[in-house]
Amino acid sequence: MITLPWRPSVTASLGVCAVVCIGAMYSLVLYGDKYSVPEYPKIFTLPSYSRGLEHPTPCRTCQEHINVTFAKVHKAGGSTVSTILQRFGDLRNLSFVIPRSRVSLGWPYQLKLNATDYRPALDGSFNLLVDHVLFNKTKIQAIMPRDTAYITILRHPFEQLKSAFSWYEVPTKYRIRRGKDPIREFLQQPAKYERNFRTRLPFRYTRNFMAYDLGFTNLSQAGNESAIREFVRQVDSDFDLVLILEHLTESLVLLKRYMCWSLSDILFTPKNTRTYQYKTLGEYPDLVTAHRKWSKVDYALYDLFNATLWAKIERQGPDFYREVYHFEDMRTKVVQFCDVAESSWKLQIPASKWNKKFLVDAEFCSRLRLPQTTYMTNLKEKYDAQKRTSRQQKRVPASVYCFSGTGNYRFVAQKNIIDS
Ligand SMILES: *[C@@H]1O[C@H](CO)[C@@H](O)[C@H](O)[C@H]1NC(C)=O
Ligand SMILES: *[C@@H]1O[C@H](CO)[C@@H](O)[C@H](O)[C@H]1NC(C)=O
Ligand SMILES: *[C@@H]1O[C@H](CO)[C@@H](O)[C@H](O)[C@H]1NC(C)=O
Ligand SMILES: *[C@@H]1O[C@H](CO)[C@@H](O)[C@H](O)[C@H]1NC(C)=O
Ligand SMILES: *[C@@H]1O[C@H](CO)[C@@H](O)[C@H](O)[C@H]1NC(C)=O
Ligand SMILES: *[C@@H]1O[C@H](CO)[C@@H](O)[C@H](O)[C@H]1NC(C)=O
Ligand SMILES: *[C@@H]1O[C@H](CO)[C@@H](O)[C@H](O)[C@H]1NC(C)=O
Repeated sequence: MITLPWRPSVTASLGVCAVVCIGAMYSLVLYGDKYSVPEYPKIFTLPSYSRGLEHPTPCRTCQEHINVTFAKVHKAGGSTVSTILQRFGDLRNLSFVIPRSRVSLGWPYQLKLNATDYRPALDGSFNLLVDHVLFNKTKIQAIMPRDTAYITILRHPFEQLKSAFSWYEVPTKYRIRRGKDPIREFLQQPAKYERNFRTRLPFRYTRNFMAYDLGFTNLSQAGNESAIREFVRQVDSDFDLVLILEHLTESLVLLKRYMCWSLSDILFTPKNTRTYQYKTLGEYPDLVTAHRKWSKVDYALYDLFNATLWAKIERQGPDFYREVYHFEDMRTKVVQFCDVAESSWKLQIPASKWNKKFLVDAEFCSRLRLPQTTYMTNLKEKYDAQKRTSRQQKRVPASVYCFSGTGNYRFVAQKNIIDS
């Protein structure tokens, strides 16, 4: 077994300390004094594939993880991350849990395991689950491989509320009078407006909507502190990494390191974004305070996982930020290139300490641009084609990387994991 290929830095700056102290504070509030962020999520401690590979300097190797469940949370940047994973699996011909319905895996209800909610795997096993599902680890574990990494994303609950307000037309549904600032009006009397919306839906658009997606389904427990604590603890043990939309670049670079991927794997263009009236509202502290009281579970989740994200980043050492800058720079170049590129153009991204060299061409650009639902349609078509020809798709051999020192990263080889 290999452990972390990168080591925690010994030099902790004051700023970093502040981050950790705040993190520790949140953890203490939620867990009492026994809790600390684990050194390394268990799933990422996988076998080393160094045997038989030649490398000139001694270094620890890791092989890219290909099995992932991404619990896509509504209005939280989930589409952007989903599309990254769709491209990852598509380029390697991996097998997705594909919804039978247009967009989701049974959400907002429990996933049905007899494959009424999803198409059966053509070769008998799945690698990736990236569409909306009501998260229930027991169920998902029953269909996903044992070494699956579980990841999800959270957004600041107030930002998520604004987005949900706009996307689901909450002011109309909740009969909030026109001419008022609808969010302010709602947050002054949330219970009253909630009653205006007569629904059989098992979740609420304005209250713990993110927590619902992650499995907090008993709405009567929204004010029960011990139920909330228990739930947050459950989420913490269910997931290997929780991304934070407000810190998406850092979250993705951390994901890339954990998963032993290359920077090209996490390139993205924002998906399903739009501007809406409330977006520029800003963070009025009084509104956030009111929302925090109303949507306690979402805030408990966000506070903890933003803090743990930064604690995990701190463990990566200062080299982490150099990689983040490098990635931002690369992403800007690729996006600018893709905006203007004609079909024959190619952009060579040179190898760096953190990525192997790779070529951006028109095909890569078009994959990068695909909206999440279009990508899903393409994957369904790919599935249909494969089923028609009943030809096993050839999986791409997994990349193996070599680490020497903090974050120092070198591509070594591709290894056919099926044969290994
Ligand atoms: C997340 O936590 C960090 C570290 O405490 C803090 O600097 C940052 O502002 C937080 N992010 C948000 C969006 O609250
Ligand atoms: C699948 O299971 C659900 C309950 O989990 C049941 O309602 C449904 O009838 C089953 N469908 C088939 C085809 O077995
Ligand atoms: C990933 O899942 C497949 C089954 O779909 C399994 O054969 C494989 O061992 C798993 N892990 C890796 C690293 O490929
Ligand atoms: C989660 O799935 C398991 C296994 O199907 C089931 O027993 C359990 O009731 C589910 N949880 C909820 C909250 O429905
Ligand atoms: C919700 O939680 C309460 C208190 O634990 C419990 O009595 C009730 O049965 C639960 N409701 C559902 C639908 O699970
Ligand atoms: C609050 O949550 C705890 C833990 O889930 C549960 O045992 C208790 O019954 C809940 N209390 C109420 C009033 O629902
Ligand atoms: C993926 O599968 C398709 C069809 O089976 C095949 O043509 C293609 O070469 C495969 N992709 C890679 C990168 O191996």
